[in-house]
Amino acid sequence: MRIPHSRPSINEEDINKVVSNLRSGKISSGEEVKLFEQEISKYIGVLGGIGVNSGTNALHLALNALDIKPGDEIILPSYVCASVLSAINYTGAKPVFADIEPNGYDIDPESAANKISKNTKAILVPHMFGTPANLDKFLELNVPIIEDCAQAIGAEYKGEKVGSFGILSIYSFYATKVLTTGQGGMVLTNSNKLLEKLRDLTKYDGRMNYRISYNYSLTDFQAAMGRSQLKRLDSFINRRREIAKIYDNTFKEIGWIPPKAENSIYFRYVVEVDDVDQYIEEMNKHNIDCAKPVFRPLHQYFNIDGEEFPNTERAQNKAISIPIYPSLKDKEIKQICEAIKKVWSKF
Ligand SMILES: Cc1ncc(COP(=O)(O)O)c(C=O)c1O
Repeated sequence: MRIPHSRPSINEEDINKVVSNLRSGKISSGEEVKLFEQEISKYIGVLGGIGVNSGTNALHLALNALDIKPGDEIILPSYVCASVLSAINYTGAKPVFADIEPNGYDIDPESAANKISKNTKAILVPHMFGTPANLDKFLELNVPIIEDCAQAIGAEYKGEKVGSFGILSIYSFYATKVLTTGQGGMVLTNSNKLLEKLRDLTKYDGRMNYRISYNYSLTDFQAAMGRSQLKRLDSFINRRREIAKIYDNTFKEIGWIPPKAENSIYFRYVVEVDDVDQYIEEMNKHNIDCAKPVFRPLHQYFNIDGEEFPNTERAQNKAISIPIYPSLKDKEIKQICEAIKKVWSKF
């Protein structure tokens, strides 16, 4: 039996909620979306938010709410998916890449601080693989922080949910994310003014005076699924942590130090090895799909010298992501552990 690298965790209740919404006939963006926005805001502990159709567009809206324009600079890590870069490019602002931490995968506060210029308007801080970034250090920089919680909904930093620290935070509900609506996303904020602005930016009809607006709406049947998933979010996270512990013990058994991922919700379980491609190939022989957790660091798309991004280069060359998600069955977890023991003992 082949085990995919990622798989959604959907149950009958999710399906019934979607079907019930479809039967209601009210399937565009309405009451369900409003309730979903309120419930997620309450869960994270912020004032409110706007449900949208992807994490990428959530970031685009967040940048628009901050009036980001051509000539502005946005700092972001090189080690993140390319859709984030696209959202910045939609605005015409200049993306400025920072390196990640020496012992982890989150953006390095020192590297980000070194990239601040008079044109810097925001720093994008993704909590990579479900592990909270060093938010205190970023909040000291006196630059607006947009938290990217696409991989980390429900993770906590110093006892508070990530997403409640930045001026804005964004989420993705893509199929294989921690909580899914198929495709989808959200922008949250604690600022009444920004919330109003987000609402205004997404009001695409019924205006007396024309302005560019964005139809990024989430549908009610997606929101119905999201609300159903939200009820299980804490149990999803507990299960991810349980599986991580099983993998940790497996690595300990064979004399490997398991990865350190403090306060992680384990969107990804990432280990460093000497030759990622070789390990992916070997795990493949055991019918297990592993992957590089980031397809390609952003600086590499522009042929920027990797010397400026030593930790990103390290991660890209060494990090392998092993399947971890709540819909993994016990026997699949066992199959993965057996394969880890064989493959990791081989080299
Ligand atoms: C850290 C991060 N931010 C943003 C996004 C974009 O989300 P979406 O795929 O919903 O557009 C992703 C998606 O993979 C992501 O991993």
